[in-house]
Amino acid sequence: MVKVGKRNHLRQLLLWLIMIIELLLFFFVCSAEIPARKILEGGDSDPHEVCRLQTSDQKVVIDNGLVEVTMENPSGYLTGIKYKGLDNVLESRNHNHNKGYWDIVWDHGVDKIETKHVKVITRTDDLVELSFTKTWNFTADHGNSVPLNIDKRFIVRRGVPGLYMYGIFERQEEFPDAHMNHIRIAFKLKEEKFRFMALSDTRQRIMPSAGDRGYQTLAYREAMILTNPLDPQLRGEIEDKYQYSTENKDNKLHGWISDDDAVGFWIITPSDEFRIGGPHKQGLTSHPRSTALSMFVTTHYTGKDIDTTYKKGEHWKKVFGPVFIYLNSASSEDDYRKTLWNDAKRQLSEEIKSWPYNFTRSEDFPHAEQRGEVSGQLLVGERFIHKELVQAQSAFVGLAPPGDAGSWQKDGKGYQFWTQTDKKGSFHIKNVRPGEYNLYAWVHGFIGDYRLDLNVTIQPGNKINLGSLIYDPPRNGPTLWEIGIPDRTAAEFFIPEPYPTFVNSLCLDDADKYRQYGLWERYSDIYRHGDLVYTVGASNYSRDWFFAHVVRNIGNGANRPTTWQIKFNLEDVNETGHYTLQLALAAASYAEIQVRFNNPEDVRPYFTTRRIGYDNAVARHGIHGLYRLYSIDVPGNRIKKGDNTIFLTQTRHQSSYAAVMYDYIRLEGPSV
Ligand SMILES: *[C@@H]1O[C@H](CO)[C@@H](O)[C@H](O)[C@H]1NC(C)=O
Ligand SMILES: *[C@@H]1O[C@H](CO)[C@@H](O)[C@H](O)[C@H]1NC(C)=O
Ligand SMILES: *[C@@H]1O[C@H](CO)[C@@H](O)[C@H](O)[C@H]1NC(C)=O
Ligand SMILES: *[C@@H]1O[C@H](CO)[C@@H](O)[C@H](O)[C@H]1NC(C)=O
Ligand SMILES: *[C@@H]1O[C@H](CO)[C@@H](O)[C@H](O)[C@H]1NC(C)=O
Repeated sequence: MVKVGKRNHLRQLLLWLIMIIELLLFFFVCSAEIPARKILEGGDSDPHEVCRLQTSDQKVVIDNGLVEVTMENPSGYLTGIKYKGLDNVLESRNHNHNKGYWDIVWDHGVDKIETKHVKVITRTDDLVELSFTKTWNFTADHGNSVPLNIDKRFIVRRGVPGLYMYGIFERQEEFPDAHMNHIRIAFKLKEEKFRFMALSDTRQRIMPSAGDRGYQTLAYREAMILTNPLDPQLRGEIEDKYQYSTENKDNKLHGWISDDDAVGFWIITPSDEFRIGGPHKQGLTSHPRSTALSMFVTTHYTGKDIDTTYKKGEHWKKVFGPVFIYLNSASSEDDYRKTLWNDAKRQLSEEIKSWPYNFTRSEDFPHAEQRGEVSGQLLVGERFIHKELVQAQSAFVGLAPPGDAGSWQKDGKGYQFWTQTDKKGSFHIKNVRPGEYNLYAWVHGFIGDYRLDLNVTIQPGNKINLGSLIYDPPRNGPTLWEIGIPDRTAAEFFIPEPYPTFVNSLCLDDADKYRQYGLWERYSDIYRHGDLVYTVGASNYSRDWFFAHVVRNIGNGANRPTTWQIKFNLEDVNETGHYTLQLALAAASYAEIQVRFNNPEDVRPYFTTRRIGYDNAVARHGIHGLYRLYSIDVPGNRIKKGDNTIFLTQTRHQSSYAAVMYDYIRLEGPSV
């Protein structure tokens, strides 16, 4: 009996133990699920919830009670972002490699840089940082994937509704040659939900979606006209992703809103130090079909003139990002679109304040104390205009890899740090990564490029004051006449109204007029009876100088070269003196400008730019591409007392988009 009793006791103890374990398990599982349920119900989620990480063979999930982010293991594709009532803000119908991913356009197409390993870098209550890596292997990868070692980082922080992403890309010396023309992160949001796009205070609207099958592609194949959209308001609208391009300096915030949920998805870029080509380089932002892009490298608006060629023997390593993917929500009763946009702007200024981020763990991303500063003052000396030096107001000043003056706009590999001067021409460039740079600048209202003839070496903690620097812009004599404003764009010239059938209502503002589709074709209809003639003294460049020197469409897809004339009168000419024609271009695509003086029939032009440009600025609705300046020496015997004409011929006409845009033209007299 006793024995039995003892056995029974043991048995009961065991049963109790099992029950306790089950109970414990039950509580554990429940507590793990509670926050997820709260989020699903859109209830109050706890902003103080700690970060939690779950890993399995298929996926890695980070959850901070505000967002739950899922990455595929080990590819590093972002497959899920759960926020508020939305189970996934990404398009769950897409394949895993087509929801949220990095990609590189290279010699063999598009590589979505799938990784092979995942490693937990930081795992605390406050923060989880993950690293998805791949080491390029000649035997296995040659010809199949970009010769590049990859480290894609993801960070989720406690109390922060979003996700930080950055990438560390490295080419070892022995890696074979490659071009990497575009490097970006793409997000494909849930199309039924994210239909309202916001790029700026004024550029916001409902966009066509997957259901809008009724469209027709236009002459430039990436553009379409919506012939039968689901949303009748959009009928007849033009859609073309290039209409939403932005300069690097302005590309800090863009994204989408789901009207059903009053939820916003934003790409916040607090610094553009890692983007290529300097502050004016343009790139894509958000575009139809609920797509949001974070562009790091792109040859758009420069073509192959920007350096994205990587050679064997050259070691290269670069950190792209971090960028911040921010989610917000509003009550759907108030003016939630405005609330979300304003809140995203507020968040952007927070992110800028905390730049450079101090919570990243890659040693390749230096924190503030590992960076340096450069300050100084820029003055302009233009002896024919001002006797004294003038302070270069609002000038762009930047550090970029060493090169010739202006080389920064073609640099595709290094870091750049730009700022604008204040009223006194003073500048202060903060948070510069250690390295060797040149200091470059350009000044609104003056032609040419400044470069300080000194290598600026930044070491951690450096504070360098360069003192007063003097820019002496190209000039050989007093101005006889000028056309336009030296500002590196064609924005001040005549920009026609679009054809009524080719309107995008997001480009109606005066400042965005140049973004309308098909403006290049308007030249042939406005100048039906003859090419452009500009008479100095009588013409007005904002009305009489077409913004792009394009070809003439003669029907059946054929084009003809066009010759523009500048007529001017000189009371006196010094036949032995030297005049200068300053010809500044804002863009060039597959073009050549030939310059002739007074006789259009001269077999040989006096000057030719030769074949220049691949920037496609006309076709892609940019108001500029790359800047070029030609200082053309004109001996006095080329011109005459009285009436003169300069003939500018754009000779290349194989493509409808062969064109240049002028920035500014000036004739200078002999120096006195
Ligand atoms: C490179 O790939 C080949 C072929 O798949 C494999 O045999 C080799 O072990 C790999 N090398 C390294 C260093 O991973
Ligand atoms: C990191 O930066 C934040 C915001 O700029 C600041 O509040 C915090 O004190 C910094 N932390 C450390 C450890 O420096
Ligand atoms: C400046 O740096 C460039 C590129 O690193 C180098 O070629 C050049 O010799 C340097 N110039 C001086 C004066 O140190
Ligand atoms: C040139 O034309 C523009 C636009 O019509 C006008 O605003 C400007 O005043 C004109 N300039 C002169 C000097 O007439
Ligand atoms: C004409 O130009 C020449 C060469 O620059 C100069 O020597 C001469 O003084 C000029 N003549 C006049 C009348 O300005």
